[in-house]
Amino acid sequence: MEKQHQLLSKIATNERHGENSPYFDGWKAYDSNPFHPTDNPDGVIQMGLAENPLSFDLIIDWIKKHPTASICTPEGANMFKDIANFQDYHGLREFRRAIAKFMERVGGGRVTFDPDRIVMSGGATGANETITFCLADPGDAFLVPSPYYPAFDRDLGWRTGVRIIPVDCHSSNNFQITKAALEAAYDKAQQDGINVKGLIIANPSNPLGTTLDRETVKIILSFINEKNIHIVCDEIYAATIFSAPNFVSIAEVIEEMDCNRDLIHIVYSLSKDMGLPGFRVGIVYSYNDAVVHCARKMSSFGLVSSQTQYLLATILSDEEFVGNFLAESSKRLKKRHSIFTKGLEQVGISCLKSNAGLFVWMNLRHLLKEQTNDGEMALWRVIINDVKLNVSPGSSFHCIEPGWFRVCFANMDDETVDVALKRIHAFVGEQKEREMPKKTNCWKKIFGSASHLVYLKRVLDLHM
Ligand SMILES: Cc1ncc(COP(=O)(O)O)c(C=O)c1O
Repeated sequence: MEKQHQLLSKIATNERHGENSPYFDGWKAYDSNPFHPTDNPDGVIQMGLAENPLSFDLIIDWIKKHPTASICTPEGANMFKDIANFQDYHGLREFRRAIAKFMERVGGGRVTFDPDRIVMSGGATGANETITFCLADPGDAFLVPSPYYPAFDRDLGWRTGVRIIPVDCHSSNNFQITKAALEAAYDKAQQDGINVKGLIIANPSNPLGTTLDRETVKIILSFINEKNIHIVCDEIYAATIFSAPNFVSIAEVIEEMDCNRDLIHIVYSLSKDMGLPGFRVGIVYSYNDAVVHCARKMSSFGLVSSQTQYLLATILSDEEFVGNFLAESSKRLKKRHSIFTKGLEQVGISCLKSNAGLFVWMNLRHLLKEQTNDGEMALWRVIINDVKLNVSPGSSFHCIEPGWFRVCFANMDDETVDVALKRIHAFVGEQKEREMPKKTNCWKKIFGSASHLVYLKRVLDLHM
């Protein structure tokens, strides 16, 4: 094994892929025993995947009605030669135009995007790596407010050699990014002799499901201007907003204040907002000409297939469809979020208040045996192995407070949500039974087992 290891490069074999983290372990647990309502009803339910298939029917319906949009239908095959042969790294002009218009619409019509600044990449994953390659050298660092998307470690650092420095955020202010937290992380890096090249934020946040308000975006912009470092704003969840406040893109805020636009870069993707992660459509949008130029050269490594560009150019140019799709998608996410959070509330589980995303940030601190990372991992193992739900522990998002878990709610059908909630209810009921104080033993003698007491309490609650 050791010998085999030496055959490969240090970059390929370094640990920064993060494959051995609990985040990916949960996926493996699901892969080896996946839930199926009839074939494997006791299997693991996948709640660790931020996928959004809730509005697929609308896209499928559109595709059926527009057979010429694809080069692989009898109606569209006359375009096959041109499109299959196309490999220009600028991308199809219609595609760039359609993506720019879509981003404008998602930004509430208050922003404009220039199609000539759209650079393609293989999903936001590729886009985040490309922009990091353009901005930083090995050993340089990016600040990232925590808790943050675990794969940032891989995307920003694995192959580029760039370091990530977390900006610690706290539940006491709902994990908001503050100037003090940014300054503290920056100063610490300076003291350690680390060259900070930028800050990357996800807005809306993964895992919090919250959006940055205008004031916070301004604070962030002042901070990066003052330090003369870059900001990369990953807006991959921009159209998953399902309740107020609205999404405020960084593109909108830079119109309202004086800032050096050469430092501003946006990453976008259709993986979440349209639910198309398999299409691998990622975008780097930079206000810096040199970065656009450089990222475009690099995009040869992760172009979006011309077949996909062609199809999406037509779908996204249908403004009526896009309007309906965005409105309906947000309505469905709102409904699912409400069903799920209400189901959790019934057994006393609260989540961080959120208005976006495909997940909730669930607070299970009260179920930890000890308030440490070990306590969190012990509970996580019970949830994976016994309750058989793949949820992701907060520590894998570099959350500094134990007891938070990210739970995805959009990647399954209504029936599976129901099964997941039933399992959570049963689990919390069991925990309560175990913790019933000895005092209640005399009541147990009168009423029977503790589960009857829990039941009795629920009945009383219902009637109060
Ligand atoms: C914040 C964030 N950025 C990037 C990605 C990667 O997305 P893609 O599938 O477009 O590569 C994800 C996926 O979960 C994400 O949550």
